[in-house]
Amino acid sequence: MGKSKFGLALVLALLALSACGKKDSSTAGEGTSAAGGSAIEFVTTQDSSPLKIDAALFDTPAAKEFLTTGKNPYVGNAEAVARGKKIFQLYSCTQCHGPEAKGQVGPGLVGPTFRYPKDASNKGMFETIWHGTNGGMGAKGIGLMDPTDPKNGITPDELLKVIAWVRSMGTITGNE
Ligand code: HEC
Repeated sequence: MGKSKFGLALVLALLALSACGKKDSSTAGEGTSAAGGSAIEFVTTQDSSPLKIDAALFDTPAAKEFLTTGKNPYVGNAEAVARGKKIFQLYSCTQCHGPEAKGQVGPGLVGPTFRYPKDASNKGMFETIWHGTNGGMGAKGIGLMDPTDPKNGITPDELLKVIAWVRSMGTITGNE
């Protein structure tokens, strides 16, 4: 009898301790997400359903600015554009969209018209490339490109550079 009462007290004490631990970690979690401030809301190109992208992946000043404003700070930035061209080649976009993004097996990407009209905006094109389409364009976002390897895929910062290069090949010059 006395023994089981002691056991119960021990269990209660442990529960109280673990509850404390939980409280601490959730407070820390709230702190980090609040630090991100306001963010634009992404939707998939497939069906416009909400597309959640971990805010922590937006880890450069340009990517953070895009996350809050939807504007691509790399448009018109020669260094970023040059890097974007390289990344376009690295991810084999060239194979389907051509070395100048003017189309090959896949459609041209330089506009002014697009299969998905929202691709005229940086946010829209970002969503299309990140999460793919139902018509043959695979998701390229980090964690989505290869489900067996969460580290595989393009980062938000890289993707903004790719889009800046694609824009430099066409007629759309705005950063919206
Ligand atoms: C295996 C071939 C293939 C690869 C590789 C590929 N794409 Fe695509 N992409 C396509 C096809 C096919 C479509 C048309 C999809 C549709 O109609 O739904 C497309 C569509 C797109 C669109 C939408 C165009 C529009 O008119 O709205 C964008 C933007 C795009 N791709 C960018 C990229 C980028 C950037 C990469 C590299 C990171 C890439 N693609 C890699 C085949 C490919």
